[in-house]
Amino acid sequence: MQIITPNYILTPDELLSNVSVAFGTTIQKIAPLDELIKEFPDAKITTLEKNSLLMPGLINAHVHLEFSANRTELSYGNFIKWLHSVIEHRDELISGCANECMTAAINSMLESGITTFGAVSSYGMDLDACFNAPQNVIYFNEVIGSQATMADILFNNFLARLDTSKASAREGFYPAVAIHSPYSVHPILIKKALQIVKDEKLKLSAHFMESEAERNWLDKNEGEFKEFFETLLKQNSSISDSQEFLKNFKDEPMLLTHAVKANYQELDEISKSKHTIIHCPISNRLLGNGALDLSKLDEKNIRWICATDGLSSNYRLNLFEEMKCALFMHSNMPLKELTKKLILSVTKDASDALGLNCGEIKEGKNADMIVINLESEPSNELELHLILQGYNVEKVYINGKLKKGQ
Ligand code: BEZ
Ligand code: FE2
Repeated sequence: MQIITPNYILTPDELLSNVSVAFGTTIQKIAPLDELIKEFPDAKITTLEKNSLLMPGLINAHVHLEFSANRTELSYGNFIKWLHSVIEHRDELISGCANECMTAAINSMLESGITTFGAVSSYGMDLDACFNAPQNVIYFNEVIGSQATMADILFNNFLARLDTSKASAREGFYPAVAIHSPYSVHPILIKKALQIVKDEKLKLSAHFMESEAERNWLDKNEGEFKEFFETLLKQNSSISDSQEFLKNFKDEPMLLTHAVKANYQELDEISKSKHTIIHCPISNRLLGNGALDLSKLDEKNIRWICATDGLSSNYRLNLFEEMKCALFMHSNMPLKELTKKLILSVTKDASDALGLNCGEIKEGKNADMIVINLESEPSNELELHLILQGYNVEKVYINGKLKKGQ
């Protein structure tokens, strides 16, 4: 048992002061220090310095580690040009990112306070790095392939990767499934993968309505995807439309990444099915996809959480940076309300969406906690300054164990 005594605790709904936290793997009790010492006389006590803040570790629900070698190789500004550049540079990026490169990306997340991440794995090359990561990992094995003739081979490849990840059991490692997108996964593959998700109660995610090209292709078999599919995949019409795609998951709450171009009808379906939208503002900006309308999601009562996407469409894997960009991107939204929602979106809301027991400093929750040096007393705009100032993350605890700091 340990006791930690910060100046302040952001729970994250509430700011507490003059209380300490007793914890093992999970948080046992939050109370004044003298009370905790009486109850846990043998606990190791850590007293933090002035203006220290304890808050839940951050949760980055969507990242692609296998593309972490990208710095300047990929082309930004237009989704289809970016996709072509991914195809052109895929082999050099993948072979250029061995274990050390992915481990460096994982460590950079730890440094900035990320205690849980959702890794979308295209090839299974990131399995060792994720298995050995200090963080909790939701390991999303991705299924992709729009051609019916390739369905069996691709499904077997996906199954083999899923099985290998299931054999990698450790505390805080959760094998899961990702369906790449409505335009790139054949309905047969979707149905087969979904059956496994249901049978084995796995977490599920998919990219959805990321670009104007996707909108036009799924709605009208037109737009910038037309030439892409005709030349590279010999297809002149899409394999599915968005309604058909969403219908598959009517009774299966899942994570839908991007949804920038989702229309009202789709948002209705998403709301009814209790899906969560993963918002990746920097990725959306860099790939020329515009800004997600968060107020529409709030109107429809759709939970949204903020994530970084991979280094293939970002320059950092840092949720404080991501939230800062979101704050400036959604300039029509009330400032303070948005900062509070953003902090919730990378803690409590992300934990709820992923079905985890973390994201809060609360009795019974996993002890995934970070310590931040606020440098001065917190104002009533704490969430805003957390996002703006780039404070140092001094310590990181994951399942009660110190993984950064001393
Ligand atoms: C496919 O594998 O069919 C595919 C991959 C990426 C984009 C579109 C289609
Ligand atoms: Fe992604």
